[in-house]
Amino acid sequence: MSKTPIIIDCDPGHDDAIAILMAAASDKLDIKGITIVGGNQTLEKCLNNTLKFLSHLDLHIPVAAGAEGPLLRGLTVAPYAHGDSGMDGPQLPPATQKPVEMNAVQLMEKIVRESEQKVTLCPMGPLTNIAIFLRANPDLIEKIDKISLMGGTTLIGNRTPTSEFNIWEDPEAADIVFRSGIPLFMQGLDVTYQAGVNDDEIAQIRAIGNKYSTFVADLLDFFSKYHRNLGRMYTPLHDPCAVAYVIDPDMFTTEDHYVEIDMDGELTLGTTVTHNFGRCTHAPNCTVSLGIDREKFVKLLFDSLEILGRGGRYA
Ligand code: RIB
Ligand code: CA
Repeated sequence: MSKTPIIIDCDPGHDDAIAILMAAASDKLDIKGITIVGGNQTLEKCLNNTLKFLSHLDLHIPVAAGAEGPLLRGLTVAPYAHGDSGMDGPQLPPATQKPVEMNAVQLMEKIVRESEQKVTLCPMGPLTNIAIFLRANPDLIEKIDKISLMGGTTLIGNRTPTSEFNIWEDPEAADIVFRSGIPLFMQGLDVTYQAGVNDDEIAQIRAIGNKYSTFVADLLDFFSKYHRNLGRMYTPLHDPCAVAYVIDPDMFTTEDHYVEIDMDGELTLGTTVTHNFGRCTHAPNCTVSLGIDREKFVKLLFDSLEILGRGGRYA
């Protein structure tokens, strides 16, 4: 069975890093490139975090830096969740790997243009790079198989009462992506808050006892502090849902809806307005994940770390 070529666009970010490891372990996926966008922290910090953990874990995947911030707005980072470095917790040696000598959009264009198969995009930060890529390369849209993104919510937000951070950060970019006509699979907060791990499971991850599991346990020890302080006993693995959907969509329950982006609301900016009521006159543009088999998802994470520990991937 041929592997699915994917590009991961991200803002590492604790959950971004875990998503990358889940993808790297999968024999169904071929990570052609990792592109970085400002979001959880500045572009420089997210890029440095990525190069440091890929170097530490000896994973060799092309990495390119993209947009420093949103298309039209200033960047708002999230130190409250990810710390001042954007990946507080793990103590890693300096990066030995360097980014490729092109920017994120150029790397995306190169990968898609050269690919014999259609490429899947897995964005898990603000959608700025994706929007620029689509606008700059309209001829390549037909070579994008689908977009499985972490972002949005049909109900409760996490950056505002109604909006999720990635979409809220760059709503104009999200609007471009949601209007692109590319098959869109939204892993929003509706499902990602169901895809969490508790303290016992984090201890089980650490007990796997290889450098990948130790890194993930260190990430989760820090990332969990923010969520425990909010009274959550499960630490949501937002971004790995975007990858897990590509690996095993049957793990998810979904509905097709028309989703549009609020770019003007004073109180509702960045809301993924989901027409999930009976009278919508628009055809659906998005498959929205609303549920997940959590046990299956957690097993995928554990198995991924075991597989990486046996080596050989992206060496
Ligand atoms: O709202 C969750 C999203 O915001 C995740 O992608 C997390 O990494 C942050 O970027
Ligand atoms: Ca992210």
